[in-house]
Amino acid sequence: MKALVIAEKDHPLEVREIPEPQAGPDDAIVKVYSAALNHRDVWIQKGQYAGLKYPITPGSDGSGVVVGAGPSHEHWIGRQVIIDPALTWGDNPAYQSPHAFKILGLPDDGTLAEYVKVPVSNLVEKPAHLSFEEAAALPLAGVTAWRAIMTRAQLRAGEKVLITGIGGGVALFAFQFALAAGAEVYVTSGSEDKLARAISMGAAGAVNYKKEGWVGDLRGLAGGFDITIDGAGGDGVNDLFDLAFPGSRVVFYGATRGNPSNVVLRRIFWKQLNILGSTMGNPDDFKAMTAFVEKHQIRPIVDKIFPLENGEAAFRWMDAANQFGKIVVRITADA
Ligand SMILES: NC(=O)c1ccc[n+]([C@@H]2O[C@H](COP(=O)([O-])OP(=O)(O)OC[C@H]3O[C@@H](n4cnc5c(N)ncnc54)[C@H](OP(=O)(O)O)[C@@H]3O)[C@@H](O)[C@H]2O)c1
Repeated sequence: MKALVIAEKDHPLEVREIPEPQAGPDDAIVKVYSAALNHRDVWIQKGQYAGLKYPITPGSDGSGVVVGAGPSHEHWIGRQVIIDPALTWGDNPAYQSPHAFKILGLPDDGTLAEYVKVPVSNLVEKPAHLSFEEAAALPLAGVTAWRAIMTRAQLRAGEKVLITGIGGGVALFAFQFALAAGAEVYVTSGSEDKLARAISMGAAGAVNYKKEGWVGDLRGLAGGFDITIDGAGGDGVNDLFDLAFPGSRVVFYGATRGNPSNVVLRRIFWKQLNILGSTMGNPDDFKAMTAFVEKHQIRPIVDKIFPLENGEAAFRWMDAANQFGKIVVRITADA
């Protein structure tokens, strides 16, 4: 089968012929129609991720049709599915197993291939209102956003929410979910175009984090926030603590800008802030997220679709942070 392969650290993706995967007793083989990128895939290519292994076919997100399954799971064959990329979450819904947890696409080969092997327990029926491209965009970023804003922050209708870096895949889902749940949502971005898009989608306010005085501007617009959702980290976290209402929740799901060089602890304890960490989601989060997407007929925003042969261009597009929404790679033309 054809697959996109990273042969070694810092190597461009290559289209290679590799053997098709074989299903074990509790596995399914999915013919992948579309896959989608996450920042993780680019970091794996750059050698900046834990547990690296090359050669690897990356890709945590995929949609397609089940073409094979272990003997007791054959009822899945022919069904249109998305894949929950959180393999082996473990027994505790509060956190993923420190020993067994794996994300599809490293160390196991991922979705940027014609076929992928996954545990049957990670299959979820594709929401009927989504195309294969839209469905592929949903899983990893969708479940991360869901857990951050619903399971961890426990969003309630009418609350004021700040979502930073709205161009990001997770941020955009958090935005769509918060709007659908009746929140008043504010966003930041380094791009005026992305700010304008967020306003057109229903943001109550939007500011450019590259502009001098943006913290004061945002305070002027919103007053403060009941919930802050951030994946950027870096020294900007102190601004977020500054903008948070006393007693509010601040959720971190990533650190694109790295660790802060200092944290102003006084802002955290004096304002009685609840600082929450969040990573991907457990199987119940994934099912609840998918059900919410169906109920509210939410459509993932697909920024650009690349053919398999241009996989490397898709990775460079993400690396340049040009996107608004998810970057999709179409694997099967006949979908
Ligand atoms: N814990 C988890 O389970 C989990 C899951 C998925 C992702 N993550 C992490 O979350 C982060 C985002 O992932 P992603 O896949 O959504 O990446 P992405 O789609 O590449 O988004 C990255 C975004 O970060 C934003 N950004 C850059 N500098 C910023 C700043 N100073 N302030 C605010 N935003 C800034 C940019 O937004 P603008 O273009 O709007 O400026 C950019 O589009 C990554 O660090 C990733 O590793 C964690």
